[in-house]
Amino acid sequence: MASLKKSNSLALISFLILSTTAGFLPVFVHAGVGFSAELIHRDSPESPFYDRTSTSYSRLIAAAHRSYNRAAYFRKFMKQPIPPPTIFPSAASSKNNGDNIHSEILMNRTDYLLAIYMGSPVRKILAIPDTGSDLIWTQCKPCGECFQQSAPLFDPAASSTYKIVSCGTVPCSALPKSTCGRSGNQCEYNYTYADGSYADGFLSTETLSFDSDGGDQVRIPAILFGCTHRSRGIFDENDAGLVGLGGGKLSLVRQLGSTIDGKFSYCLPSYSQTGTTSRFNFGASAVVNGAGSVTTPLIAGYPDTLYFLMLEMISVDGHGEVAVKPSMPAAVPTSKGNIIIDSGTTLTLVDDDTLRAVETMVASNVTLPRVNDTSGIFGLCFNFSGFAGNDVDAQFPHIKFHFSGGAVVVLRPYNAFAAVKEDTACLALVSSKDTGVNIYGSLAQQNFHIGYDLNAMRLSLEPANCEKI
Ligand SMILES: *[C@@H]1O[C@H](CO)[C@@H](O)[C@H](O)[C@H]1NC(C)=O
Ligand SMILES: *[C@@H]1O[C@H](CO)[C@@H](O)[C@H](O)[C@H]1NC(C)=O
Ligand SMILES: *[C@@H]1O[C@H](CO)[C@@H](O)[C@H](O)[C@H]1NC(C)=O
Ligand SMILES: *[C@@H]1O[C@H](CO)[C@@H](O)[C@H](O)[C@H]1NC(C)=O
Ligand SMILES: *[C@@H]1O[C@H](CO)[C@@H](O)[C@H](O)[C@H]1NC(C)=O
Repeated sequence: MASLKKSNSLALISFLILSTTAGFLPVFVHAGVGFSAELIHRDSPESPFYDRTSTSYSRLIAAAHRSYNRAAYFRKFMKQPIPPPTIFPSAASSKNNGDNIHSEILMNRTDYLLAIYMGSPVRKILAIPDTGSDLIWTQCKPCGECFQQSAPLFDPAASSTYKIVSCGTVPCSALPKSTCGRSGNQCEYNYTYADGSYADGFLSTETLSFDSDGGDQVRIPAILFGCTHRSRGIFDENDAGLVGLGGGKLSLVRQLGSTIDGKFSYCLPSYSQTGTTSRFNFGASAVVNGAGSVTTPLIAGYPDTLYFLMLEMISVDGHGEVAVKPSMPAAVPTSKGNIIIDSGTTLTLVDDDTLRAVETMVASNVTLPRVNDTSGIFGLCFNFSGFAGNDVDAQFPHIKFHFSGGAVVVLRPYNAFAAVKEDTACLALVSSKDTGVNIYGSLAQQNFHIGYDLNAMRLSLEPANCEKI
């Protein structure tokens, strides 16, 4: 089990305004306080859009397609020209790097939702937690030309702590692209995309609240977020927005910076535990260092939004191992790390040669009859009819991911195989194909307590029952 440290002091120790690692975002520091947010599985009955008619199989196929969309998006993101270093503060400069790519609008459903509280009085918002992007945004009133959402829109006029950021300010220059709004003094973003999608709104600040270990809410003022007033795109009507958890300046975790000591963690319940919620932890609650934990370096790469790891090899007990190429084709040459850990991608993507080797090792272990996957996504599938319940697990090997720093992560059958039909299970490891992007996806992360330490640049993983966290 993961050891979740309870903080012993919930007192507000100090109100020091410190600079975060991002260098310019002031936050209020609560020493030693751990706090958390509710993490809800999208298909859980807790989720307001639980679709009782869709089967788990169709959901998996949809998630598999999304995994490829996501890899293609990451490829574009990684291929963007590296911007020149920004000189702060560059007053009134309107930056425009031309073809901006942001996953904020390319999301199109992930598997988990995060409950955050915004404004004064607080409003609960269910948003997509995204380790693959930075900006926090929600659709705001008025929203005449916006994608339909089922939850009420956030109303900035009803919140006493809402403020629009002026253009020409340092926070405004952290946006990859901004203009001075219609009134000439509001920091406005308009992210546009090749497919005609866009999200348009004002960079703003607002108080965000979280549940603390002691039960009280922790209020954190002046968090930069995007209040979207116009949008079009491939969003799900049940998303009220997105919480960027990437490594870039505007992400929630970077803005919280020293408040959370650079630490956050999550534990994703498995698909069979869809009735459960778990916690997304910050600060003192996010330390993962129990007896079963392993630690690997987080590698700074380009873009800084993404979390890179070095995957050295994959092994199947008794059937050999395959070394993984040390770089990804899509990465800029100076980027280290060969796989991105991402909460928003379901499957795990590895290069074709690695995948073939893993498939061969797995095929030599599993004695069930082979079947072809009719969806065309999976390369190795088995007919498990005749095995029920726990017996099914025993038919599949444990696959080990060996990350740098000696971190060996043992994937249990439900981390590495997925049922695509009532009698068919497939290896949920697929080829990154021509995206050239390797991703360690959410299925492989299920029932691990995963802690990110952005100060020490370390990632820790510990097997856990996320239902109990
Ligand atoms: C968005 O998701 C839906 C449902 O999963 C899927 O049918 C659709 O093709 C996706 N669109 C894009 C552009 O990814
Ligand atoms: C934002 O960009 C989209 C697509 O280019 C455009 O249709 C929309 O009018 C823009 N919004 C503003 C306020 O300029
Ligand atoms: C498959 O691997 C497991 C250990 O992961 C081992 O116990 C079992 O004997 C293997 N089966 C075959 C057929 O190789
Ligand atoms: C799977 O498909 C391949 C080629 O499409 C075919 O050669 C093979 O016989 C099929 N296997 C089964 C078990 O249907
Ligand atoms: C799996 O095996 C069962 C029993 O032999 C058979 O009835 C079923 O059609 C098979 N399923 C597939 C997808 O081949």
